[in-house]
Amino acid sequence: MAVGRSLDLHLDWAGRPDSRRLAEALRTAIRDGRLPAGGRVPSTRALAQDLGVARGTVTRAYDQLVTEGFLLARQGAPTTVADRLTTRDEPGSPAAPPDPAPRWDFRPGRPNLSAFPRRDWSAAGRRALGELRAGDLDYGDPQGHPALREALADYLARARAVAVDPARIVICNGYSQALALLSKALVERGATSIDFEDPSLPQLRAIPAGLGLTVRGVPVDGEGIDVAALRGPAAVVTPAHQFPLGGTLASGRRTELVRWARESGAVIVEDDYDGEFRFDRRPVGALQGLAPDRVAYAGTASKTLAPALRLAWLALPPDLVEPVRTAQEHSGLHAPLFEQLTLAELIRSGDYDQHIRRSRALYRRRREIVLDALAGMRARHRPYPAGVAAGLHLAIQLDPAGPSEREVRVRAERASVGLELLGRFWIDPGAGAPGAVIGYAAPPEHAFRPGLRALVEVLERR
Ligand SMILES: Cc1ncc(COP(=O)(O)O)c(C=O)c1O
Repeated sequence: MAVGRSLDLHLDWAGRPDSRRLAEALRTAIRDGRLPAGGRVPSTRALAQDLGVARGTVTRAYDQLVTEGFLLARQGAPTTVADRLTTRDEPGSPAAPPDPAPRWDFRPGRPNLSAFPRRDWSAAGRRALGELRAGDLDYGDPQGHPALREALADYLARARAVAVDPARIVICNGYSQALALLSKALVERGATSIDFEDPSLPQLRAIPAGLGLTVRGVPVDGEGIDVAALRGPAAVVTPAHQFPLGGTLASGRRTELVRWARESGAVIVEDDYDGEFRFDRRPVGALQGLAPDRVAYAGTASKTLAPALRLAWLALPPDLVEPVRTAQEHSGLHAPLFEQLTLAELIRSGDYDQHIRRSRALYRRRREIVLDALAGMRARHRPYPAGVAAGLHLAIQLDPAGPSEREVRVRAERASVGLELLGRFWIDPGAGAPGAVIGYAAPPEHAFRPGLRALVEVLERR
């Protein structure tokens, strides 16, 4: 079907004209590049007219795609296709190369890759290889090698107050795959929707959405997720350090959240992506420790070591172990054996803890330097920082009278400063004030201070 005279968009769309089918057709058009990244989509009125459907059908389909991160909606501006979700820009052309890293990299979600413990990792790898039995090289357990599951059960109990035994741990290819496995298990059980914090990371919301679950946004305030707005049967939360706003789930909310899960039979997915990095107080233990029967805890090596390792772990409630293990078996994507055994050895030797202690000290120092630099900005532009007690990033609110998010983005691109703007994380586009997210872990040591000067200039310049 050709849609919109100005767009000449082809939508493969058969059957009843409902919002679910329309959303699927639009998703395919975006993935195929027929709706290119950054391009406008037709107004709901124009598309409804072209398709001969109710405007509400189009609005619902657009809302769903905004929730999933395929579309970007801003109040008073046309809806556009989000960046980096198309697999090609023009039909027939090869996939676009990934964006080059900016010169000054303050994008959140990245640890300091220059500080990767190469020597400890290779020593642990050699020891692991020396102890390898021939049988270890067989297909192996889809849940992950027992040596890593045992090491993780000890580590998680000690460092994150996670109550788990190795039989309930599943090793995954990064948290992204962990979320895919959990989503599959939930779909198998008959779930049709999943709650996500608003704001949250659109790439992560796209995972359950791509597996058929409707993603619903739940507001977050200074204390964390609004428990009364949860609908279930599952909710994904970031209790230690809300992504991207940076708050910590308040203790009253933790209790409420667990009570909600117990009473409704819902599953809580705890994304503990940077829980090891707490600066102001003693570490806040994982939510999972309060309700191991209701919380699927997820941890990752992406922030403590490096994202390229693709190593993450789930500590599961008993009733989810078998479905997730089966989903992992069917995926064929078991985590690679040598990386698993090396990490197990790194943890057993104490070198993993030591690396985390060193990294925590480095990030705490950097956080102070960033906060000083922001506080030193001229009062007129001074942004208000939030979420500073933990993690590898902080959020800043932009002065509504100062430069807009768009202006900051353009300036940052020109100066080759990498940062993220809050706008792309909202599910409800009108929900939040303009702001930016600054990750301070990634720059190598020599680039940190000059990079910070470039960053402040981007935020400050008129
Ligand atoms: C909120 C959040 N959760 C989880 C992850 C980790 O994902 P993965 O283990 O797939 O690298 C990230 C990484 O950026 C993140 O920002």
